[in-house]
Amino acid sequence: MRIIVCDDYDGLSLTAAKMIASQILLKPNSVLGLATGSTPVGTYNILMKMYADGETDFKDVLTFNLDEYYPIRDDNPQSYHYFMKEHLFSKININPSNVHILNGTVTDAAAECKTFERLIKKSGGIDLQLLGIGKNGHIGFNEPEANLNAGTHLTKLTQSTIEANSRFFENVDDVPTHALTMGIATILRSKKIVLLASGEEKQHIISSLLEGGISTAIPATMLKVHPDVTIICDRAAYKGV
Ligand code: GLP
Repeated sequence: MRIIVCDDYDGLSLTAAKMIASQILLKPNSVLGLATGSTPVGTYNILMKMYADGETDFKDVLTFNLDEYYPIRDDNPQSYHYFMKEHLFSKININPSNVHILNGTVTDAAAECKTFERLIKKSGGIDLQLLGIGKNGHIGFNEPEANLNAGTHLTKLTQSTIEANSRFFENVDDVPTHALTMGIATILRSKKIVLLASGEEKQHIISSLLEGGISTAIPATMLKVHPDVTIICDRAAYKGV
């Protein structure tokens, strides 16, 4: 794993945005795996600006989002559909038919996950997957558990993730208890992976990720088997190991 330590959140956002823009420059029809959460918001803001300034063109880009709460409606402001529209898609020239986000309203979750995997495969696979990281080391919504070899699937959120994400909801009981998520196997099939971590609250998990071995108790450590992972942190998230 390669690590880039930036002075602050703005530096982290700029570095990640430049990597994504370079990927699109090299391959205009890149397949991007996108993440939600507060960490990538700065990256998306810079990408929007790069588009507005004519520096990046999303016309032929395809996207697959990591995850979505389940069940949740697209028009719920806490849904990841809503988030992506608000923070990126409504501000760039992406073709809506090239955007793929798991549907949190389906009754047959297994069929939805299967279709999603099929579409990723049909697209030629994800060229660059952007990730955040949960305080417990989850990526997407892959929570610590004994077996982490799944493809896209329906999962139950841990209490710690429900509590961490409750800051976006009116109260903790409004946080859905389940989610649809790309699995670790899906993520590991991406050609490149870029993981972002910002702030002191991520310092502990980033140290565990860099210092420790591979363990399903910290899902992000599974990334150690991948040949092309870049972690971009700010100084607050990196205590130096
Ligand atoms: C959620 C998302 C993850 C994200 C995590 C951390 O649980 N499913 O993909 O990485 O939150 O979010 P934040 O960047 O706000 O710390």
